[in-house]
Amino acid sequence: MAHICIAYHSGFGHTEVIAKKIAEGVKASGCSVDLHNVAELNDALWEHLGKADGIIFGSPTYMANVSAPFKAFMDASSKPWFGQLWKDKLAAGFTNSGGASGDKMLTLQAMGAFAAQHSMIWVSQGLWPSAYNGDGKGTNRLSSWLGHMAQSANEAASETNPNAEDQASAVLFGERFGKATLRWVKGA
Ligand SMILES: Cc1cc2nc3c(=O)[nH]c(=O)nc-3n(C[C@H](O)[C@H](O)[C@H](O)COP(=O)(O)O)c2cc1C
Repeated sequence: MAHICIAYHSGFGHTEVIAKKIAEGVKASGCSVDLHNVAELNDALWEHLGKADGIIFGSPTYMANVSAPFKAFMDASSKPWFGQLWKDKLAAGFTNSGGASGDKMLTLQAMGAFAAQHSMIWVSQGLWPSAYNGDGKGTNRLSSWLGHMAQSANEAASETNPNAEDQASAVLFGERFGKATLRWVKGA
């Protein structure tokens, strides 16, 4: 058994929908999972992150970057960083935003560099974009490679907002991350 934490921020609930879908996929892989909204920085958060075998980071894209509360979490992680307490845990990232692009890539890049500062092992999105084979399934609809991307309309979060195909891909992304973590933990 391996344990995974999803550390995310969501201002209006859209990124949280994706976080929950990723958690579904992680569970399907056979790992246990807990979700933490990092808008609340408390001892339980750091304790859970310290014990996890893998951490998936998630933030909406605000002004072409992670949201301010997620950045506050990044900065607050300087304490585990000093001890390199997350070294060799697996890591991955996801973001949701209003635009099809909306500069989501910059958010994932910020997360990837953040994970590298913690000496973590980055797991990519890993789903072949269905746009390339025209199967109409919408898997990895936004053709992201570095991490998972989702898009939402400027309406309340729901079963179809963020985009339903992006939600379905999030489940597969979580499953991939869980399987990778199981392999990593077994090898150790
Ligand atoms: C302060 C702010 C900045 C935003 N900047 C971007 C942006 O750079 N690119 C984009 O595509 N959407 C942007 N949006 C739209 C959000 O990404 C979108 O509403 C998203 O669904 C919010 O996710 P959340 O509900 O998890 O907070 C921005 C929204 C806000 C409130």
